[in-house]
Amino acid sequence: MKATAIANSNIAFVKYWGKKDESLNIPFNPSISMTLDEKISTKTTVEFSEKYESDILILNNEKLSDNKLIRVSNFLDMIRKKSGCIYHAKVISKNTFPTGCGIASSASGFAALAAAAARASGLNLKDEELSKLARMGSGSAARSVYGGFAIWDNESATQIKDETFWPELTDIIAITDDQQKKISSREAMKITVKTSKKYRERLQKVDEKTSLMKQSILAKDFPNMAKLIMSESDNLHECMHDSVPEIEYLNENSYRIKELINEMNKEKPIAAYTFDAGPNAHIITLKKHSSKIKKELLKIFGLRLIESKIGKGIRYTEEHMI
Ligand code: PMV
Repeated sequence: MKATAIANSNIAFVKYWGKKDESLNIPFNPSISMTLDEKISTKTTVEFSEKYESDILILNNEKLSDNKLIRVSNFLDMIRKKSGCIYHAKVISKNTFPTGCGIASSASGFAALAAAAARASGLNLKDEELSKLARMGSGSAARSVYGGFAIWDNESATQIKDETFWPELTDIIAITDDQQKKISSREAMKITVKTSKKYRERLQKVDEKTSLMKQSILAKDFPNMAKLIMSESDNLHECMHDSVPEIEYLNENSYRIKELINEMNKEKPIAAYTFDAGPNAHIITLKKHSSKIKKELLKIFGLRLIESKIGKGIRYTEEHMI
């Protein structure tokens, strides 16, 4: 009973921030994302077997016994309950992107784990069911089940368009800091929901923003989409700044990148910056502008760049790691 799945990470254009239901990861607002390519992905093999006396987790060649193992074990319990499988599991998981480079791995990680574990336990789930399951591990993972563009509201995500719809789009990830984040998104969300007045205002406007974002994607209207992406990222970080205690994920280079992109957009928007719960920038642009933007970004001291195209959803392989 063994299966291997690969899932790519995604970058949110409208961000998930705040849980209506803490234990079930039900979001306060809908979110929209673009799935990234295989450069930013996780490959996971899961084997359920009577030979294991407890769950084992090996992540990027390191055997883990801390909170990460507990989180994975709880996730596997859910799958055991659903499938009737009674065995413990060995989970081997590898990210394609450098460990500790500051790129979030929970979206690709839990999407790949959900798919591999479900299949290894004998469950045959449709994408929507898989998305629900992935969501239980990490909210943003619900969207990584699909290629192209996905929208997540409530229990599961659905696809807006697949990866062939707008292949000219690209994401230049500018790594400004490769350290672990100081505060997890899970904790930071709770603080924002509890203390930020701006967050309450955000919630009143976010449905409309989501529908405008979806329309701009469907119309392939880059200038409008870029404006929406940047104002959404700014709004989220304003809500974090408005929280008590104040939450600041961005660093000096993040602010420099924002200035640079604003400068480059003076005549018309050619790129959009967006930041998740960390200081690394995602610059969404069209391939024709990519080399010019990379050249300018590299003038900022100490940046490392990784470029990702629009990517595929979950896929399976027989190349198991166990
Ligand atoms: O998947 P989580 O629970 O780590 O939350 C991710 C939240 C953001 O990355 C900031 C936004 C998003 O929608 O991906």
